[in-house]
Amino acid sequence: MLVFSEGDHEGKLIKPADLTAGGPPVHAWPQDPKTSVVRNASRLNEILIIRLDAAELDEQTRARAVDGIIAYSAICSHAGCPVTAWVKSDVGDKEVFKCMCHNSEYDPRASAQVVFGPAPRRLAALPLALADGSLSVAGGFIGKVGGAQPG
Ligand code: FES
Repeated sequence: MLVFSEGDHEGKLIKPADLTAGGPPVHAWPQDPKTSVVRNASRLNEILIIRLDAAELDEQTRARAVDGIIAYSAICSHAGCPVTAWVKSDVGDKEVFKCMCHNSEYDPRASAQVVFGPAPRRLAALPLALADGSLSVAGGFIGKVGGAQPG
């Protein structure tokens, strides 16, 4: 399962209705559905979840989505900073995930591929499903989590 990692709803299960279409993303931790333990001991577990128009997603991304909702590792592939911003891209007119450490940008519509900045590879993607009306994790991360260079 997935729970909010910050804000008023911290620790609560995330439901599709909690996400506003077009962003911004919410920050989440995985939670073990059997023990209810929130897997927040490593910041490498932090996840970004965003709802976009399903028609905007590329095929691979749509296959991992639930109603246009997609999830990625929140850890920048450059030096491992948390990706915190949802802003208009420096190189296009769409909003993108942005890491403010060295300005890497990722497009969540296209498997979080790098569209700007020094990041060497996309953010790891997390396939989603629904379980009892809440978002759940359908499989392991696709791609490597974490930064390529020491922070
Ligand atoms: S750590 Fe994200 S751009 Fe450098």
